[in-house]
Amino acid sequence: MKTALNIDELRTLAKRRLPKVIFEFIDGGAFDEVTLRANQSDFEHWRFRTRVLGDITTRDTSTTIMGTPAASPLVLAPTGLAGILSRRGELSASRAAAAAGVPYCLSTMATCSIEQIAEASDVHRWFQLYVLRDRGITRAMIERARATGCKALVLTVDTKVQGPRERDMRNGFTVPPKFTPATLLDFARHPGWLFDVGLGPKVTFRNFEGTKVAADDAVTITQFVAGQYDLSVSWKDVEWFRSVWGGPVALKGVLTSEDAKIAVDHGIEAVIVSNHGGRQLDGAVSAVQALTEVVDAVAGRAEVILDGGIRRGSDVVKALALGARACMIGRAWLYGLAAGGEAGVARSLEILMKEIDITMALLGRPTVAQLDRSALTTALGSAPRHR
Ligand SMILES: Cc1cc2nc3c(=O)[nH]c(=O)nc-3n(C[C@H](O)[C@H](O)[C@H](O)COP(=O)(O)O)c2cc1C
Repeated sequence: MKTALNIDELRTLAKRRLPKVIFEFIDGGAFDEVTLRANQSDFEHWRFRTRVLGDITTRDTSTTIMGTPAASPLVLAPTGLAGILSRRGELSASRAAAAAGVPYCLSTMATCSIEQIAEASDVHRWFQLYVLRDRGITRAMIERARATGCKALVLTVDTKVQGPRERDMRNGFTVPPKFTPATLLDFARHPGWLFDVGLGPKVTFRNFEGTKVAADDAVTITQFVAGQYDLSVSWKDVEWFRSVWGGPVALKGVLTSEDAKIAVDHGIEAVIVSNHGGRQLDGAVSAVQALTEVVDAVAGRAEVILDGGIRRGSDVVKALALGARACMIGRAWLYGLAAGGEAGVARSLEILMKEIDITMALLGRPTVAQLDRSALTTALGSAPRHR
């Protein structure tokens, strides 16, 4: 795992260690995965305009994100079910994030509870909320996040219904994973995962324990979402969240200037430009394509965070040059977790943080504050984009 030179090599290691049904759950996207691919490939439309002969002796990649200090402009994105890759995966991730000095955002759908994460490390924690039909449970989760010292609330707004992920349907993916004739051989061929997770303690959505939403039987994610998520939640409710939470709020899943403006008018502190890693609306614009129009619409009234497709430090530097304050990473840390637990997440952060530093050094812009659109141009052959 230490030998992995980059995120793609961590992905290869993850693929080797996980049963197919589990690997495809993290790797896949909705329908034809057009948006999943575009999230990565659209970064290639941008090229760097390198400046030379500047003094780069002092380099600084540190910043603050929604008031949270960060050693590098990165946040571990909320991902449900990290514990299905590696036992108590969310605890491992939060410890690795604490050691690296970057914030960790816990998902509503985690396999470890808000309280367990708070006890495990003193990481700067954020909490991601899916709005449930039961407002009592939703309120209780917000209050638990506040009581345990989470620093920001992230409302995910692109998941009223679940994007159909055909790989999961084909593989019969459920929570917890089911032993069936189809999966048995697959599980047996991956003994590292089998003894760690497959035969370990039951994987459940721990944040729901003790509520009526707690599921005893194996469910598909689609069944869970269809049964629990609130289809009626609207801009009118944002005020309610803000008042119950009482701290900084980010909206995750904004892709247009129109919604970005409404978000800012509702007093949102950060807009997270995201299509859920290509797992929701297939054919939606890539996160990096949407970034410039959102940055321009927000016009400095809130922070903008890019989420989707980050596999190299240079992707992060491009996003910052386009006006993002920071980037969330999803699969990049999940591949590390699957490949090697806490050390694997630490490795994925180390890789990205070093790549960010070296990219900024070679670009001749050694501090985050020096990154602006003059650092970029479009690649030859690319259609002109919003500038
Ligand atoms: C396995 C998996 C689970 C996810 N679970 C959640 C979740 O519970 N809540 C959420 O807001 N986003 C979730 N996401 C989306 C991520 O937060 C993030 O938007 C996405 O992974 C970014 O794209 P990237 O993987 O290319 O970095 C999940 C993504 C993956 C891959």
